[in-house]
Amino acid sequence: MDDSTFYMEKISEIIPVQQEQLEKMFEEFLELDHIYGSAAQTVETQLHIYDNEFSMRFQRDPIHSIESRIKSGQSIMGKLQRKGLPLTARSARQNLMDIAGIRVVCYYIDDIYAIAELLDRRDDFEVVKVKDYIKDPKPSGYRSLHMILMVPVYTARERLEVPVEVQIRTIAMDFWASLEHQLRYKTSSHVPDYLKEELRELAGTIADTDLRMQDIYQQINDL
Ligand code: GTP
Ligand code: MG
Repeated sequence: MDDSTFYMEKISEIIPVQQEQLEKMFEEFLELDHIYGSAAQTVETQLHIYDNEFSMRFQRDPIHSIESRIKSGQSIMGKLQRKGLPLTARSARQNLMDIAGIRVVCYYIDDIYAIAELLDRRDDFEVVKVKDYIKDPKPSGYRSLHMILMVPVYTARERLEVPVEVQIRTIAMDFWASLEHQLRYKTSSHVPDYLKEELRELAGTIADTDLRMQDIYQQINDL
């Protein structure tokens, strides 16, 4: 069974629909993937341009790595269902801001804010939301800077404004978030409070190390 057949069967498991309707939905979701993929690519390209410019001017690049992902049709449907929203491509476009996601891993904390500032300054990307989980970490201990950007995408027919969620973090923050995420999904049961507390504490230790590394970087720079 190929991917598309599998996917159509999944949708028909969630909601009873006619074959014709199902094909139309499938096409709409393919289009969604194309549009959000294009928006993510636009932002990613721009980030590489900044990174190269920094390397050229300062012999140091601020970005360690960039990853992007487009939410799968199945996760989109799952999230709409959890939120009690209509299970259509139109509803996904109206209600979900994280269909396109980009994760930017920087070397130092200051690099995060420098990249955010560069994105904010552009007049083609509109920043519609910023959540600074570095200044205000989540109760889990999670730290990152989140931004929702509206990015223009030109299709053959029209100009669209497409939301892209950008998560900017240091290597240290990414190390914690990746392991914590894996741990949370590894267990089907609830993570006990004392382990949650330990994870939160470790996030603090890592944040402290991040600050000290940045301090060393600045001191060496000033020598
Ligand atoms: P969602 O419905 O999950 O998208 O919530 P939201 O719109 O309030 O977004 P939020 O600002 O909570 O950030 C969502 C994303 O940030 C998640 O998909 C994760 O990638 C990341 N994230 C948020 N909290 C945590 C956390 O405690 N641990 C880890 N590992 N990642 C987190
Ligand atoms: Mg999300």
